[in-house]
Amino acid sequence: MSEKRATAIASPNIAFIKYWGDRDPALRLPANASLSMTLASLQTETTVIFDDRLESDQIEIDGSPVAEKAANRVKLHLNLIRTLSGDPAFASIRSESNFPTGAGIASSASAFAALSAAASAAAGLEIDDKQLSILARRGSGSAARSIFGGFVQLFSGELNEDGYAEQLAPADHWQLLDLIAVVRKEHKYTGSSEGHQLAPTSPIQDARVRDTARRQEICKTAILQKDFIALAQIVEQDSNLMHSVMMTSEPSLFYLEPESISIMKQVILWRKAGLDVCYTIDAGPNVHCICSADDSIEVERQLRSIDGILDVYRCAPGDGVVLATNNEQTPQ
Ligand code: DP6
Repeated sequence: MSEKRATAIASPNIAFIKYWGDRDPALRLPANASLSMTLASLQTETTVIFDDRLESDQIEIDGSPVAEKAANRVKLHLNLIRTLSGDPAFASIRSESNFPTGAGIASSASAFAALSAAASAAAGLEIDDKQLSILARRGSGSAARSIFGGFVQLFSGELNEDGYAEQLAPADHWQLLDLIAVVRKEHKYTGSSEGHQLAPTSPIQDARVRDTARRQEICKTAILQKDFIALAQIVEQDSNLMHSVMMTSEPSLFYLEPESISIMKQVILWRKAGLDVCYTIDAGPNVHCICSADDSIEVERQLRSIDGILDVYRCAPGDGVVLATNNEQTPQ
């Protein structure tokens, strides 16, 4: 009898160029390339123990047993790892995040990045970061990017092996901050996985996907040259394009709340007044205000004066996934 365990820690990321729609839903190959910043301060810590005495997978998230749908998604992911390692043992999984997972802050990215790293290490798989990124993508598209720290691009890929992320610049390349203006804490909206399936029903999704290479290139250059104004314009356009696709899908998806729109409009005014700040919004109503570290105190002060903002999280560029404890084989 044996027990094989590992613990990994990963952070979520905010996409500057967003992935929306799957080229291949089974493989979670994204319809378009994307680019993100990994977020410090927020993290998910996951411990995986493969134990051949278990009769099923045991999954606990933030101290509670997990609901069936989420459990099935984790089990499917563990099956990939069991196939790769050739060891059929069931696993016990414990995962804790230090941020509310229902707050629309890409929790699936940190969750599947940490799970992939911990489970593959526990199973004794020897895989590099590129392979780990491909594996994490199978659990959640955006998780492929959380394997790396700093500024990260994810290729869309025709085949499973082409859909991986790589670092564009490390976390200390540019002192940007993501001030996340939380306007709703509960999780009432359609999840990304369902949303991706609806993307092709929008008549403008094709145009958005075809234009991705242009946006990706502008964003990449803006980051490498630390050109905030160029970054702001492309990040806001990309977010608006994705929300236009969402709103014109059948059925339509409206993630923005009145408070989200108020903040978006304020951000544009603050930038006109000279602050380095722009907005981007994922599949939820909370607004990520990307700003320079220098202007972040003023942006946070202004955000906190707006009615309806429940909280503001401050996140600098963060590191990629780390293994907290190495694989140990404990003969029982
Ligand atoms: C709007 O990675 O959450 O945040 O692959 O179904 O888990 P699944 O989707 P997910 O989708 C991310 C959508 C987004 C944009 C992005 O992060 O690129």
